[in-house]
Amino acid sequence: MISIEGLSKIFTSNKSQITAVDDLTLDIKEGDIFGVIGYSGAGKSTFVRLLNRLEEPTGGRIIIDDQEITALNSSQLRLARQEIGMIFQHFNLLWSRTVKDNIAFPLEIAGVPKTEREKRVQDLIDLVGLTERENAYPSQLSGGQKQRVGIARALANNPKVLLCDEATSALDPETTNSILDLLVDINQKLGLTIILITHEMHVIRKICKQVAVMENGKIVEQGEVLDVFLRPKQQVTKKFVEQVMGTNDENEGINHLINTYDHGKIVRLHFIGETTNQALISKVAKEFTIDINILQGKITQTQAGAYGTLFVQLDGEAGEVDKVIDFITHTSVEVEVIRDAN
Ligand SMILES: Nc1ncnc2c1ncn2[C@@H]1O[C@H](COP(=O)(O)OP(=O)(O)O)[C@@H](O)[C@H]1O
Ligand SMILES: [Mg+2]
Repeated sequence: MISIEGLSKIFTSNKSQITAVDDLTLDIKEGDIFGVIGYSGAGKSTFVRLLNRLEEPTGGRIIIDDQEITALNSSQLRLARQEIGMIFQHFNLLWSRTVKDNIAFPLEIAGVPKTEREKRVQDLIDLVGLTERENAYPSQLSGGQKQRVGIARALANNPKVLLCDEATSALDPETTNSILDLLVDINQKLGLTIILITHEMHVIRKICKQVAVMENGKIVEQGEVLDVFLRPKQQVTKKFVEQVMGTNDENEGINHLINTYDHGKIVRLHFIGETTNQALISKVAKEFTIDINILQGKITQTQAGAYGTLFVQLDGEAGEVDKVIDFITHTSVEVEVIRDAN
């Protein structure tokens, strides 16, 4: 649906040149929630601003829904931009306008008649959960509510694509989650394709299906979120996975812990999607006559299932413990016995 070929942006100042986006090629499927993660300065904002030509590319092509964005003249571009909504870290609201009038703004520019506009604004207010706040001014709203106005405004002209540049980076964790839930809701209800730029891996793991890792203006790694969690290749990607999963050093403590158990089997369960940890543990507890104790571990939920490692102690009659291990082996969870003290 979105096809990006050899996209580049070089900023030229007095003497120096900065290649912010460097020969970037990428395809994004319709209806996807596509995450782009990278550290500050990686070129993420420039990349996303190139997609609606808020920045003019130095080279390359952008095709959205069979329309070559990079070939449009300025009046064609104005129309094409109605199909590409955008939200920002600092919301970019008009402070002298109410919620309702902020959301109406893009409709006014598009020349939508007043009665139709009012109806549309009310629908959007309901969609983003701002009912009864329509006459408030941005200064009277919380951060989360401001971003809801930003989202409603971005959706006003029924775009096919929503670009989100660090849209939750100014929000606390709880509000971040509620905004991410809203984005998923919109993605499902409207079939909208979402491109989400962030430097936070937990944002990616919570709502994205695909992720691309950006460094020095290039995509250095890309794939399904769960695959990238499971097999990060680049150093930068490993660092991002550690944001969510902790570092190896932090996980080492298990060796000391294990030595304090002198019976049962200690096993390491590696979750790689599909089965959730709760489902597996409760099934084992219900169907087998053993005790299962969680010792340590870190599991995170992605859009494609659970990912992570749990160390558990299986304590009971030896034959029964082996049955449990056999049972787990036949699920999608990898199991490894790391200490047998039976
Ligand atoms: N308008 C600009 N003029 C000159 N350099 C810029 C401009 N915008 C961004 N840059 C530079 O391009 C690089 C990428 O910036 P940016 O796209 O903002 O990265 P990110 O959003 O990943 O933090 C940085 O080195 C930044 O300083
Ligand atoms: Mg940025």
